[in-house]
Amino acid sequence: MDSRDVPAPHRRKDVAVLVPAAGMGVRLGGGTPKALRELAGEPLLVHACRRLALAPSVAMIVIAAPPDDVDAVRALVPGATVVPGGATRQQSVAAALAVVPESIEVVLVHDAARALTPPELVEAVADAVRAGAAAVVPALPVVDTIKRVDAGEHVLETIDRTPLRVIQTPQGFPRLTLIRAHAEAVGEHTDDAGMVERLGHKVHCVPGSDLALKITRPLDLVIAESLLATHPL
Ligand code: CTP
Ligand code: MG
Repeated sequence: MDSRDVPAPHRRKDVAVLVPAAGMGVRLGGGTPKALRELAGEPLLVHACRRLALAPSVAMIVIAAPPDDVDAVRALVPGATVVPGGATRQQSVAAALAVVPESIEVVLVHDAARALTPPELVEAVADAVRAGAAAVVPALPVVDTIKRVDAGEHVLETIDRTPLRVIQTPQGFPRLTLIRAHAEAVGEHTDDAGMVERLGHKVHCVPGSDLALKITRPLDLVIAESLLATHPL
């Protein structure tokens, strides 16, 4: 590299992205692990990893694959490191985290199911970690009215949605903070920032993206197909 061509801080290639992709996709149905389900002729995991690889900060992608599909995933995403995933998302993330080298400073965790997440969101999360945050999450406002109900589905209260956020991935952390959060985790968490929050750290929000929706139910595949048509990569 030319000495004048020193990368800007936000363009350092110092990020590993862990991609939990070992889930069965029960809510989506279809009998195939969700990350291998196709959208416009390509597996969700391939869509997700293509967008991650386009983020200039990303040095390494580690996929936690369905244990029976490790070789298939290696063939689908040749540039990635692939490990067998675990029985829960948290275990899959831990398995991927275990192979990240010490030279990596920033670790992002990104659901394969958020297949259309734009590279710009990856960069925004990485930037916020480099700026000093212990945990960074993409967040969107809640659009629906939220009510709390009892076991009989009777409304107990209507909750003020103003301070509520829907949280997405990628979520970003200094590598050592994420390692400590996993080592000290009690019980199962649905996201990694929740584990860092339990350590007493502040979790920082950056604006989320409609493109980062999690493909969970059949309707989400229809929405994703339509989004892909207007946001191809
Ligand atoms: N995941 C994983 N290992 C597991 C469970 C989930 O790596 N044991 C991953 C999924 O592959 C997905 C992400 O975690 O990319 C978010 O999970 P979710 O959307 O719940 O996916 P699934 O668990 O596959 O779906 P479902 O809960 O409907 O079965
Ligand atoms: Mg799940």
